[in-house]
Amino acid sequence: IPVDPFDLVIFGGTGDLARRKILPALYQRFRVGQMPPDARLIGAARSSHDAADYRAFAEAAIREFSDADRGSLAAFLDTLDYVTVDASGETGWAGLAERLQPGRVRAFYFSVAPGLFGDLAERVRLHGLADADTRIVVEKPFGRDLGSARALNKALAAHFDESQIYRIDHYLGKETVQNLMAIRFGNMLFEPLWNSQYVDHIQITVAETVGVGGRGEYYDRAGAMRDMMQNHLMQLLCLIAMEPPAKFDPDAVRDEKLKVIRALDPVPPHHIVRGQYGAGDSDNQPSYREAVDDPRSTTESYIALKAHISNWRWAGTPFYLRTGKRLVARSSVINVAFKDAPHSIFGEEAGRHANLLTIRLQPNEGITLRVTIKEPGPGGMRLVDVPLDMTFAEALGPEGGDPPDAYERLIMDVIRGNQTLFMRGDEVEAAWAWTDPIIAGWEARGDVPKPYDSGSVGPAEADQLLKRDQRQWRGIN
Ligand code: BG6
Repeated sequence: IPVDPFDLVIFGGTGDLARRKILPALYQRFRVGQMPPDARLIGAARSSHDAADYRAFAEAAIREFSDADRGSLAAFLDTLDYVTVDASGETGWAGLAERLQPGRVRAFYFSVAPGLFGDLAERVRLHGLADADTRIVVEKPFGRDLGSARALNKALAAHFDESQIYRIDHYLGKETVQNLMAIRFGNMLFEPLWNSQYVDHIQITVAETVGVGGRGEYYDRAGAMRDMMQNHLMQLLCLIAMEPPAKFDPDAVRDEKLKVIRALDPVPPHHIVRGQYGAGDSDNQPSYREAVDDPRSTTESYIALKAHISNWRWAGTPFYLRTGKRLVARSSVINVAFKDAPHSIFGEEAGRHANLLTIRLQPNEGITLRVTIKEPGPGGMRLVDVPLDMTFAEALGPEGGDPPDAYERLIMDVIRGNQTLFMRGDEVEAAWAWTDPIIAGWEARGDVPKPYDSGSVGPAEADQLLKRDQRQWRGIN
């Protein structure tokens, strides 16, 4: 179903995100007929280009990061225009105003450094480019601590209502992340058991094989805690732990997520392991310190921690979260480990078994439920665990195995005016309020991350974190 005709202005239109994600995502939506041919995409940046330059830029981007067919690509490029605009000066704004068409959905994508969010919001307003229905889209990082996030929220709120602000966490746009809600709230099977009475613990792993690449300068000031834990893993935790919202509507969902974040206990230092990757195994990749060009950097590229949610549903059930770069495999997975049956009628000899629900977010999207059955054969009543396994690609056909990029869903939601998959200001602030004391603690103690080998599962200390609790991480693969 096509969305309404729209004008989308991409500030930072020649930047890396536009190239890798925004333009390819819009092209894909155009190709399937969701983006109407009379929509207009206007790249805006400080450098002086014309529309033809921008079309060439977009074409190269789409060919590199998306699969393109010639006919639809040419028609898509026709929707593109470009204006030279100074985000913090007055140049170019009149030209931008001329290009915008009345009576359409209008959105401004701030794909720029957060330091410019306030300037842009102000100018969009002052130059009369926005009305009550105009939307603005902002990217992470949304601040680097509570204070800076509050300042950003305030700067945006001075010019736009919260209902107009779309804060992106691209994990929420991932098909399988949305599926977490479908699995939990679309089935009767799981929800009655989804609490500390039946769940022993939950593990959330987001493992990457890539290193910091060319983003060393940004990353070394952020680290895994700010880059991944405060946002992406926190969102996964919320979706796994939240109460059922009354309906699938933006504030109902975000209210429940906020309650989870606010119920998180502070994390003591001995429940956290920080790591930093060393040199490549066999592929000549640089170590973390080489990649960020600081031989003494103490920024973490890996973090594992044990979190507790102090509410009726979850008191007593630990949540183990970990994420890291240059690990052995790319794998985002959630494991819900159920408790043992309270009593074994088959005697101890049969062995004790517990159910495990594994939700694979990427790659190889699917779910596996480990169930206990009788070991075949005449030898008596012995038990064995077998997987009840479903890969979405097999169950649903190619659509299930090759989900659209998160940005495709999110940008279309902006045009449709649906904020459910975007973070609300108070949510972001609450997440920083939980993160800040952890980071402050490291800084006060001069904490140094544990080294780990590239291509490994991370520092050995992270295994100890679970071993102390008589538990173990479920494999990254
Ligand atoms: C980004 C982080 O938000 O997410 C990156 O800044 C990280 O460091 C990326 O690599 C991971 O996203 P994905 O979609 O590849 O899992």
